[in-house]
Formats: sequence, C-alpha cells, structure tokens
Amino acid sequence: MAERVNVLLGVGAGIAAYKLAYAASRLVQLGASVRVAMTPRATEFVGALTFAGLTGKPVILSSTQADPDGAVPHIDAARAASVYVIAPATADLLARLASGAADDAVALLALTCRCPLLLCPAMNDAMWLAPAVQQNVDRLRARGVHFLGPVTGHLAEGYAAIGRMVEPEAIVERALQLAGGSA
Ligand SMILES: Cc1cc2nc3c(=O)[nH]c(=O)nc-3n(C[C@H](O)[C@H](O)[C@H](O)COP(=O)(O)O)c2cc1C
Repeated sequence: MAERVNVLLGVGAGIAAYKLAYAASRLVQLGASVRVAMTPRATEFVGALTFAGLTGKPVILSSTQADPDGAVPHIDAARAASVYVIAPATADLLARLASGAADDAVALLALTCRCPLLLCPAMNDAMWLAPAVQQNVDRLRARGVHFLGPVTGHLAEGYAAIGRMVEPEAIVERALQLAGGSA
C-alpha cells in the first residue's frame, strides 16, 4: 500500500494520455494521494474532469492558477509531493523541461518540486530518435531526472517501433519506488 505517499502527476498532450487515468486510479486505490497537472493541450486528449473525479482534487491547469482556498498549487502541491511523474512526456514537453520553461503548470512544477522527477516519454520513433529530442533527454538525465521508457511496441501510427510509453502499471510501480512507498 502507499499511504502517506503524495504523487504529483503531470499529463502531456500525447495519444497515451488516456492511460494516465488508469494510473491515477490505481495509485488512489493503493492509498496514495494524487494531484494532477495538465498542459493546456493535454486537455484536448483527456478531460480534466476525469482526473478530478478519480483523484478528488482540482486539476492544476495553468501556471497562474490559485486553488479556491487560496493555496498556490505550484508551491503547495510541489512541497507536498513525494514524487513527480510526467507522462506522456511529449517531445514538446521534453524541450520545455530541458530549457527550464515555466509557462504551463506541468513545466512550472518541474522547477518548484524538490522530489524525484520521473519522465515517461511517448512519441513516434522518428521523433524519439531526432537529435534534438535525444539532446534534451541527455540534458535532463545529466540533471538527475529519472526516465522510464519509451519501449518498442505498437505505435498509434500502426506499426511497431521505439517510442511507445511504458504501461501504466509500470509507471505506478516506479513512481511508488521513487516516492519511498511500495506498489
Ligand atoms: C493525435 C495526436 C497524437 C499525438 N501524440 C503525440 C505523442 O504521442 N507524443 C508527442 O511527443 N507528440 C504527440 N503529438 C503532438 C503533440 O500533441 C504536440 O507536439 C503538442 O504541442 C504537445 O504539447 P505538450 O507540450 O502540452 O505535451 C500528437 C498530436 C496529435 C494530433
């Protein structure tokens, strides 16, 4: 079980975003407290209401958002987090994270969190193998950021290649390991 584990989940605008609803649900079932942040474009893939319903907490949708009680989530949620997982980590998000951008809630939280940061990339093989993407991955790894995947498997493009996001069960397991809880 994962009581007293606070998981911050950042969702990017990739086709695999729907799998994070399952991951959020599993974490809650295991006893974790889960707070979700989404990039603006991620909400085109999965509705914020899904994550709010699964976690019982308002989703962080903007870098200038304040909670109804006055709390500022990029400070308070970051302080409380035992682990910050970003998935699917799109090529675009990797670029913003590597550059230290803070113009959306997901990227901003990566700067304010002091806990382990786990990125689960997902994109097609051409994007993943692009030198710009690999250089961003190298920069992030050099800063101590943890990576899980991508793996070789079926892509939304209809063929098997490197770039598939790891399955949500694997994300849950690694997140809890990094948070110091157990799956
Ligand atoms: C149907 C569809 C699926 C997409 N899937 C991915 C993906 O898996 N990985 C990725 O890096 N970009 C993907 N993209 C492109 C991203 O949505 C786009 O680069 C976006 O700007 C990323 O926004 P973010 O930084 O908020 O994640 C997809 C676009 C479309 C239209």
